[in-house]
Amino acid sequence: MTAELITGIGELTTNDAPRSGESTRLPGAALVIENGRVAWIGSASRAPDADSRTDVGGRAVLPGWVDTHTHLVFAGDRSAEFESRMAGHAYQAGGIGTTVTATREASEHELVANAKRLAAEALRQGTTFLETKTGYGLDLESETRSARAASSVADVVTFLGAHIVPSGIDRDEYLRLVTGPMLQAVAPLVDFIDVFCETGAFDAEESRAVLLAGRAAGLGLRVHGNQLGHGDGVRLAVELGASSVDHCNHLAAADIDALASSTTVATLLPACDLSTREPLAPARALLDAGAHIALATNCNPGTSYTTSMQYCVATAVLQMRLTVTEAVWAATRGAARSVARDDGVDSVGSLRVGAIADLQVLDAPSVSHLAYRPGVPLTSAVWRHGTRVTAVPSAF
Ligand code: NIG
Repeated sequence: MTAELITGIGELTTNDAPRSGESTRLPGAALVIENGRVAWIGSASRAPDADSRTDVGGRAVLPGWVDTHTHLVFAGDRSAEFESRMAGHAYQAGGIGTTVTATREASEHELVANAKRLAAEALRQGTTFLETKTGYGLDLESETRSARAASSVADVVTFLGAHIVPSGIDRDEYLRLVTGPMLQAVAPLVDFIDVFCETGAFDAEESRAVLLAGRAAGLGLRVHGNQLGHGDGVRLAVELGASSVDHCNHLAAADIDALASSTTVATLLPACDLSTREPLAPARALLDAGAHIALATNCNPGTSYTTSMQYCVATAVLQMRLTVTEAVWAATRGAARSVARDDGVDSVGSLRVGAIADLQVLDAPSVSHLAYRPGVPLTSAVWRHGTRVTAVPSAF
């Protein structure tokens, strides 16, 4: 059992408070990692001896990003669709069908390799915990291999057979498949079930049936809701006690109130909002009302082809009116809450004694630089489960 001391920390974000905006940022700090976990935190001047020592030279240290909404299992490219959107054409859920065709044609090896490429890209940028989904297979065999591919790269896997009704199958028949044989085939490989509750995808009653089937199979609940217009996604997620409702661009006052009085986390996806030219989700109003929020990339080939949590944090600060502390919290401990990993023995998203030692070093003295220097890749070193996966540069 060896201990590693990380010292010379200019500012240590611990996220030790359970709510957004109350997080501690300690100056002149040090931290000890032992057995993959945080073993000690305090002032650098009182740091204990350790087997090895890394001096980060006055840089900021914070928890690794917790990205709880991605769609990494896919094949193909939709840059032409993106260009057409930027030329003024609206995003429609039906674009998903293009990726379904390419994903069905790809081998499982190709799907795993592509997902691993994106997971590695995310890790280099400080993402130490990943959720990813199925949802581009949409037949029994393709969803099953998507679930296998997802579980080979992600910490948490979500079954999204109810993404759209694929072409060539009757709607009711497809719903029977998703809630029956497909669910049974993927259930051992996944943690959550999800449904795209939106015009062009699934209505409220169909979504309810999908979620209840998932719950009966022992899965947690997540919902894609209120992305392209006002709808029933948020209401349904809160009613069923879902862990998270994701997107939340079009919220009525009643949706915000419902979220504020629930345990459901509103997972906001600003990179997607910009890439689809949807209004940014009302993050400020949600926080002011007392709702729990998370920030995630929604990395996928259609609406949000980025793995950069830093971009999401900068957008949340610069355009969604969160403070830096609130945005960082939402991208770390807030996100961990949506997968029930914000507390307890396997907690991620905070740096407290006993938490998993997932952390990143910025090439900056403070987390404020994440938004103060937008577009500059600031993550310069990453530890995952206590092991350093990228080197600390010597110059600062
Ligand atoms: O989260 N909203 C539904 N699913 C994805 C879109 C995926 C796609 O267009 O391929 C999303 O944005």
